[in-house]
Amino acid sequence: MSRDAPAPAPRRLTLHVLRSHAGEGGEPRFEAFQLDESEGMTLFIALNEIRATMDPSLQFDFVCRAGICGSCAMLINGKPGLACRTLTRDLSSEFTLAPLPVFEVIGDLSVNTGRWMRAMAERLETWIHEQGTPDLDAIEAPMEPALAEAIYEADRCIECGCCVAACGTAQMRADFIGAVGLNKIARFRLDPRDRRDDTDYYALVGDDGGIFGCMSLLGCHDVCPKGLSLRSQLAYLRRKMAAQGLR
Ligand code: SF4
Ligand code: F3S
Ligand code: FES
Repeated sequence: MSRDAPAPAPRRLTLHVLRSHAGEGGEPRFEAFQLDESEGMTLFIALNEIRATMDPSLQFDFVCRAGICGSCAMLINGKPGLACRTLTRDLSSEFTLAPLPVFEVIGDLSVNTGRWMRAMAERLETWIHEQGTPDLDAIEAPMEPALAEAIYEADRCIECGCCVAACGTAQMRADFIGAVGLNKIARFRLDPRDRRDDTDYYALVGDDGGIFGCMSLLGCHDVCPKGLSLRSQLAYLRRKMAAQGLR
C-alpha cells in the first residue's frame, strides 16, 4: 500500500527590510524578520503578516493588491518591482526589501511617488489640450482602432515609479522627467484630439531634463511591471524631437 509523500515543511523566510523614519534622524538600517512561507505567498502577504504579528510600526503601501494602483513598488533584492505581484517562491529564502530610490521616503518601504508624479504631470501638462471650446453636443469623432490601441498601450502605465528608480539619469538629475514622463508625451503626441504639435513638445522635453537626458540605459524597459515598450517609445520620441531641434 502506497502512502502519499508528506508535504514538505514550509520554507523559513528571512526578509531584510531597510528601515527609516522620515524626520526622525538616524541612518537607515536593515532589520531582519523571519516567518514561515505559505502557499501562494506574495510580498504583500508577508509584509502584512510581519506588521500584524511582529512590528505594527512597519511602513509600506498597498491599495489594490492586483498590480493596478502602482503604490506597492519597492526594491526587491535591489531591483524595482511590485510587491503585490511578487511571489516569495520566486525568491531565495533570504532577500532584501528597500524603498525605491529617487522618491522622497515617508518611512521604511513607503515612498511619496504621488508628489513626484503630480509634479511631472503639471510640468508636462499631461491632459488633452483641446482644439478650441469643446462642443458637448457634437458626436464623438471615430478613431482608427490601431491608433486607439497605440494610445491605450501607452496609457497602461500605472505610475508605479519603477522605471524612474531603475534609471541612472533619474538618480543623477533631479529634473529628469523619466521614462514615465516621456511615455506620457509619446501618448499625447499620438492623440489627434490634442492640439499641441512638436514645437510644443520640444519646449517641454527637448532638453537634458527630457528626452536628451535619456542615455538609453534601458533599465526602465527591463523593470516596467506592465511590460510597456519603453525602448521603442523613447527611441521614437528621440528621433522626432531631434528632427524638431534641427528645424
Ligand atoms: Fe511603472 Fe512602467 Fe509606468 Fe514606469 S512606465 S511608471 S515602470 S508602469
Ligand atoms: Fe533612463 Fe530608460 Fe533612458 S533607464 S536613461 S529613461 S532608457
Ligand atoms: Fe496596487 Fe501593488 S498594491 S499595484
